Amino acid sequence: MAKFVLLRHRETPDIHKLSVYGEYTALKKAVTSMTTDQVINEVKASGLRGRGGAGFPTGVKWSFVPKERYPHYVTVNADESEPGTFKDRELMEFNPHQVIEGAAIAAFAVGATRVYHYLRGEFKPVARKMQAAIDEAYAAGYLGQNVFGTTVEIQMFLHLGAGAYICGEESALLESLEGKMGQPRLRPPFPAVVGLYGQPTVINNTETMANVPYIINNGAAAYKQLGTEKSPGPKIYCLSGHVKRPGNYEAELGKITFRDLIYGEEFGQGMMTEGRKVKAILPSGASGPIVTDTVLDVPLDYESVAAAGTILGSASMIIMDDSIDMVWAAGKVMHFFRHESCGKCTPCREGTFWMEKQYHRILGGKATLADVTLLQDVANQIIGKCLCPLGEFATSPVLSSFKHFQAEYEARATDAKKPATARK
Ligand SMILES: Cc1cc2nc3c(=O)[nH]c(=O)nc-3n(C[C@H](O)[C@H](O)[C@H](O)COP(=O)(O)O)c2cc1C
Ligand code: SF4
Repeated sequence: MAKFVLLRHRETPDIHKLSVYGEYTALKKAVTSMTTDQVINEVKASGLRGRGGAGFPTGVKWSFVPKERYPHYVTVNADESEPGTFKDRELMEFNPHQVIEGAAIAAFAVGATRVYHYLRGEFKPVARKMQAAIDEAYAAGYLGQNVFGTTVEIQMFLHLGAGAYICGEESALLESLEGKMGQPRLRPPFPAVVGLYGQPTVINNTETMANVPYIINNGAAAYKQLGTEKSPGPKIYCLSGHVKRPGNYEAELGKITFRDLIYGEEFGQGMMTEGRKVKAILPSGASGPIVTDTVLDVPLDYESVAAAGTILGSASMIIMDDSIDMVWAAGKVMHFFRHESCGKCTPCREGTFWMEKQYHRILGGKATLADVTLLQDVANQIIGKCLCPLGEFATSPVLSSFKHFQAEYEARATDAKKPATARK
């Protein structure tokens, strides 16, 4: 078997060109020999879970789209704003046809004639490469009217956002795509029923879409051979921070551990600085609970990582060595969330402001132990009271860093002379 299902450009140079990628065989099979329900059932049977963060079963999501109200839409979430996440970018730049083919199959499956890829504003150069690939697909008759000579129509567009983290949240993405301010919607109703322009809409992450051609070409059973029973398939892990070889690495879900990813010869190759050890891991960028080196032997799949007290999310692993001041690091993450809070609901808007303010006091040597307690109190007040998950994400760095590194907070509060620097 080929080494890569997703990062195929690493084995096949120039696969971004249609002449190298070849005919869209999976799309052809879907539109010429399968019903829409058969496609949905195949994706359901494959067990593919969304790669945008929540790991929701993709085929199940597609099956929620009601059949009586049209038009339907497909949107591909390429906002990729999570700190430390850079996998969708690589797919779109170097293996764009696989993303386009997957999205086209999704459109056929749910009866949508319009597909929108929502790219973060900073992805202009990526958008140019995607557009070149979309143009090739139109010219070959794989997109447009009468796809592969059938009555199926699939039109595909790119949309660039303006660079806001919240626009990766699916309902804020839809608002932004409609030309409004990117702020989350109250749910239910969910986008599958009331989505873009009020119509049934499927939203999937770019990497999720890139899995679909393999499933249709090879069948659900072959896909399920990869990964674990509950977390099947390949996954791209984004590795960054204090490792020798940061980058994107593809592996089957659950077949490698944190240790393999950080120290493995074909992965991170160990810590950047000789003699340094893993102090903290942010396994899902900024949004998941921070963990320590106690998780090193945990397999990287949704269930195992959750059992270890954090989330796999988009698998953006930021590694910090033992030179890092964790109060400083958590304060940086808090700054990010305060800046990215969209301001629509009070607990998140005010809570992130006050939490960042407390970090400034603590890092500036002006805090007492009561300030540290207050920081925890504010975080606990936010949980369960926000309109979207961003508010809760913002409490993660506070509560998880306090859980593991309480002594560092207390030292900050009792030793005013301690410098507010990143590295010791
Ligand atoms: C604050 C926030 C930011 C998000 N950012 C992204 C993102 O950049 N890309 C993404 O695919 N999903 C992101 N998501 C998750 C999406 O809301 C949604 O669950 C996902 O696009 C669904 O696709 P999937 O089922 O293929 O994972 C974000 C969620 C939240 C709450
Ligand atoms: S939780 Fe934060 S980001 Fe989400 S809607 Fe409320 S203010 Fe906006």
